[in-house]
Amino acid sequence: MKLILDSLIGLGADGLHLAQLTAEGSKIPAFLDRFFERDQGFLNLPKTKSQVLQIKQVAEKVRGRFKYIVVLGIGGSALGVTCLMDALKGTYWNYSGLPRLFVLDNLDTVSEIEKIVDLDKTLFIVISKSGMTVETMAQYFYFRDKVSKENFVFITDAEGGELRRIGEEFGIPMLTIPENVGGRFSVLSPVGLLPALLLGIDIEEILAGAENMANLFTSTEFEINLPFQMASIQYLLEWNRGIDITVLMPYSSRLYALADWYRQLLAESIGKEGKGLSPMRALGVTDQHSVLQLFNEGPKDKLVCFIEVAEMDSPRIPINIGDEFNHIGGRGFHELMNIEKIATENAMNEYKKPNITIKIPQINEREIGEMIMFFECSIAFLGEYYRINAFDQPGVELGKKITRQLLS
Ligand code: PA5
Repeated sequence: MKLILDSLIGLGADGLHLAQLTAEGSKIPAFLDRFFERDQGFLNLPKTKSQVLQIKQVAEKVRGRFKYIVVLGIGGSALGVTCLMDALKGTYWNYSGLPRLFVLDNLDTVSEIEKIVDLDKTLFIVISKSGMTVETMAQYFYFRDKVSKENFVFITDAEGGELRRIGEEFGIPMLTIPENVGGRFSVLSPVGLLPALLLGIDIEEILAGAENMANLFTSTEFEINLPFQMASIQYLLEWNRGIDITVLMPYSSRLYALADWYRQLLAESIGKEGKGLSPMRALGVTDQHSVLQLFNEGPKDKLVCFIEVAEMDSPRIPINIGDEFNHIGGRGFHELMNIEKIATENAMNEYKKPNITIKIPQINEREIGEMIMFFECSIAFLGEYYRINAFDQPGVELGKKITRQLLS
């Protein structure tokens, strides 16, 4: 992937000066030191070969036995799964592919899912780091009464939590989320990788891409360290200009769920102690006909980060379609999409609205792995910029605690 900053730099005083940006590079060594002191495990996931082996073993036990997979999980135990499925199998996978995969990350979808799947032919993957989350556990208890224990796999913490205890009691196959990997940083653990593997996604390629980015993260050179570039842009725009909204706007429907995953990552990691950046997601080209008006003529409070995919298989528009539409005749739909992205970018530049572009050659396992690690690492740097712990979530925990009290 490439991070293209031309528009941002080209805006001069309305964007960021290159010299100002590159000068930030001197902070990398200290930020890395502070990050490593936090002992976070997400960076090591690509190198942990044993987890791939364990995921494959569990996948072998269940492969071919189920027509449906239902993931019971929420937040960091759900968003990464949808992100990988949509990106690498397509947004309409469930209409034609097998196994069909549904992520039940809300409480009101339980009855709907029962109408869609044949429960006996459904594998339930119950995912909860804490093993205590009320939504996930309520769903598990509900389906436990309806299907055999052979229909379950659990993914949870190595030691604590009720889910682990139940799994041990009933002999349910279990995979472990490493202790120092938090929910929203767990997509490259069994949380994202087991469902992905069962869909036929090459998980080793995802990890190879992620490892590549993890190596860039430890570089002290500004030009090489893409995650640091991202974090410094976000921080400087906020600190100097009050631009405190980051919009992730992929030009591909397949990457919209990635933007949703990132929304949680940024919000839950950095929104602390009265500080924070508000995430927003938008979809190109669709949202050009929705929120773009606001981006262009509304307040100057957003950094828009486009994701552009250089190549994608796509059919062509017919040629003989009349004079009015001659300019699109014979073009590929993807080509049209990318031209519209350039148009949006140019329009934003005219309005002097900060924007950058992540460009990937195509959507594949390696690129997705790289992007996931890119965003995770950029969050690690942002945490150090804001001098907060990007890896806890006291605000979420308090909500969980009060829910429990209300229900007790
Ligand atoms: O990122 C986080 O820590 C949270 O969003 C959790 O993933 C979410 O609350 C679900 O928690 P758990 O995986 O413990 O069920």
